[in-house]
Order: sequence, then C-alpha cells, then structure tokens
Amino acid sequence: MAASGGQPRRPEGLGSVERVLLQRFEPFLDVLRASALADWVNPLRQLTLERLQPARHGDLGDWVETLERLSALCLPDPCDSSRVLDQPCVGVAAEQPLSPAVSAQLRQVLEQLHPWRKGPFCLHGIAIDAEWRSDWKWARLADAIAPLPGRRVLDVGCGNGYYGFRALGAGADWVLGIDPTLRFVMQFLALEQLIGAERLAVFPLADDDLPGLCAAAGSQFDTLFSMGVLYHRRDPIQHLARLRDCLRPGGELVLETLVVDRPSDESIVCEPPECERLLDKDAEKQALERRQPGCGPAPAETLIPAGRYARMRNVHAIPSVAVLGDWIRAAGYRDLQLVGLSRTSIEEQRATPWMRFQSLADFLDPNDPSLTIEGHPAPVRALLLAQRAG
Ligand SMILES: C[S@@+](CC[C@H](N)C(=O)[O-])C[C@H]1O[C@@H](n2cnc3c(N)ncnc32)[C@H](O)[C@@H]1O
Repeated sequence: MAASGGQPRRPEGLGSVERVLLQRFEPFLDVLRASALADWVNPLRQLTLERLQPARHGDLGDWVETLERLSALCLPDPCDSSRVLDQPCVGVAAEQPLSPAVSAQLRQVLEQLHPWRKGPFCLHGIAIDAEWRSDWKWARLADAIAPLPGRRVLDVGCGNGYYGFRALGAGADWVLGIDPTLRFVMQFLALEQLIGAERLAVFPLADDDLPGLCAAAGSQFDTLFSMGVLYHRRDPIQHLARLRDCLRPGGELVLETLVVDRPSDESIVCEPPECERLLDKDAEKQALERRQPGCGPAPAETLIPAGRYARMRNVHAIPSVAVLGDWIRAAGYRDLQLVGLSRTSIEEQRATPWMRFQSLADFLDPNDPSLTIEGHPAPVRALLLAQRAG
C-alpha cells in the first residue's frame, strides 16, 4: 500500500490493529486528496482512526487476521480479472477458475465475516447469497433516480457497500459510504480487496458525524442515499436535515424507508394521481374519512411501536407517506416524488447459508403474514426522491 509519493505510509504511534486497518483506506484517501473532495481527507482519516480503536469492538483483531488471510491467498492478478458492477451479482471473475484448494480457502475467509446481510456477490465462482436481495431494491430505483454519470454520491447507512458498487457500475464519479457497524465495514474491505474500486469506500461513521464533516468539507454531494435508516433514528427530521446539509443545492435525496400505507398489490410503481394523493396529507385524511367500516384497518398516520417491530429493537417511528412527505419538506427539500411502495416479501429478505440467523419469515405472524409477530402491519417500504431546496 503506497502513499501518493510512492513511500510506504507509516502512521506513527498507532496500535497495530488500527494501523493495519487505516492503511486499507489510504489509497482511497490519496485519490480523494487529488480531487475536488480533498477537504474531506483529514476529517475522514481522523474519525476513522477513532472508530477503529480495538476497544470499540472485541472482534476487530480477528477481522484484521481474516483480512490478512485474504491478502495471503493466491488469487488471480486483478489485471487478469474482470469485475462486474452493473449486474445483480456484483463481483469479480478471472479467466482461469480458482483451484479447488484456493476456492475453499476463499470461501472459508468470507464465511468468517458472517452474517452477510446485503448482496448478492459473485467472487471468483463463490456466490454470496446474502439475506437481502439488494439487487431488487436497486432495480426499483435505478431508472427513477437522476442518472449517475459524473455524480458524487454519499450513501448513509450503506452496509457493506453493495449499492456503492452498483452506483459505480452506473457511472457515478465517487461513492462515499458510511456505516457505523464495523462488521459491514470489514465486509466492504474484503470485497474491495477482491473486486477493487478506487472511487468507492465505506467508512466506519454514522449520520451523527455528518454535520462536522460537511461543515468542514462543504456540501458537495450530488446524490445522497438514505435507505433503511430513517426508522432507526430517534429524530427523523434531524436525520434528513443532516443529509440536506451535505447535498449541493438541487442535489437529489434518494430515501427508502418503512411506511404504514398498504399497497393493494405486492408493489406499486407510482403514477399520478395515486402518488400525489399519497403525498398529500389532506387528501389522505379525506380518504380515511370516506373509508367504509369493514374495509380493514385504517392506516395510522404514524406507528410508534411500543416494543419491538418485526423483532427489531430500534424502530422508533413508521409514518404514512403523507407524514413522511411533511418531514422531508420540513427538513429543507422540495419537488418530492414517490417512486413506489413495496411490501417486503420473504423471498426478498430471508435466511440463507450466508446469513444463518432468523429472518423475515420468523418475524411475521404465522397465521397472518400481513402482520408482524408483534401484531403491527408487516413491512412496506416507500422509495422517494426529493431535491435540496435552496
Ligand atoms: C436496514 S440496514 C440498510 C442498509 C442499506 N442501506 C440498505 O438499504 O439495504 C440499516 C443500516 O444503517 C446502519 N446504521 C444504523 N445506525 C446508523 C446511523 N446512525 N448512521 C448511519 N447508518 C446507520 C446500520 O449499520 C445498517 O447497516
């Protein structure tokens, strides 16, 4: 790993775990230093170092060993491999398949990073069938968002970076992912080593870090993804406002989150006037008032689960699309567009050999899959776009 001047970088006074890990981010930071995002380098480096202290996670030492085991494998030269970023299964393949022994070693290394929540990935013949068919979510948004060529993308709560790879595959200039869950950052580092992606990185940061970062480095992103994060935040409007401050004026927010609205079908691709009605609180209220008795439960405007929601502990609020629209406008966005609603199915989120814990099928009422095991409406997700106002 060489610094820009060709000299090996030797951070002084750092413990071996954070030193080894920090070095993995240096090539990206070096490329960033020479770009319009140069002001991000120092604050990103400083925060990353803080988050990689061994005291922050008991498994960090093991993960470093796993990554080093990966580095030691006799894998094909990246120059003789082709990477795939624009297909559902993101990955890399060489002309010559791996020998059975090396393939078994690679599988073992990747299994040490279980559970794989986001995917799929196809890595030298090993297919990581992750818990989520993240490619389905990408397919819902890919044609709806502003075309990515030339755009700088920030993906907040990006998991292992699946969507970042897809964004690069769709022509994005840069993708900066942040996620506070260190296991997912380690998965990204393994993927990055195998696939290679100089203009994508996943940093171990959270949305709370954004105000400082964007104040120091500027509001420079053209597209900002927040997918599957909003309902985990205690103050959703604050989350949205923090994202706004990182977008350039007119930049695009791509928001995907749980809502209480019930599509009549498994999924609806929104077209006016249905979508306009869903985003309009008065129209929604009138529709509720017109509702006949016996037509099923009326959607509450915001569900605040008293305990867990689909076994998740940290789900704070699930709004209707109309309430969500109000939150987005209050946070400083305009030109809202509802792209669609989709009911999460047990085919999209499920246990697999790469995610062996319980999954959605275990979190739904066995007698009524339209309800969670706690009796709440089962997950429905809305995908919305909005522009930063001003
Ligand atoms: C349900 S997953 C969604 C992952 C991915 N964005 C997707 O749509 O598939 C939520 C992600 O948000 C991350 N997360 C949790 N709290 C966060 C925070 N405060 N800031 C940013 N990300 C957060 C979690 O680690 C997790 O990877």
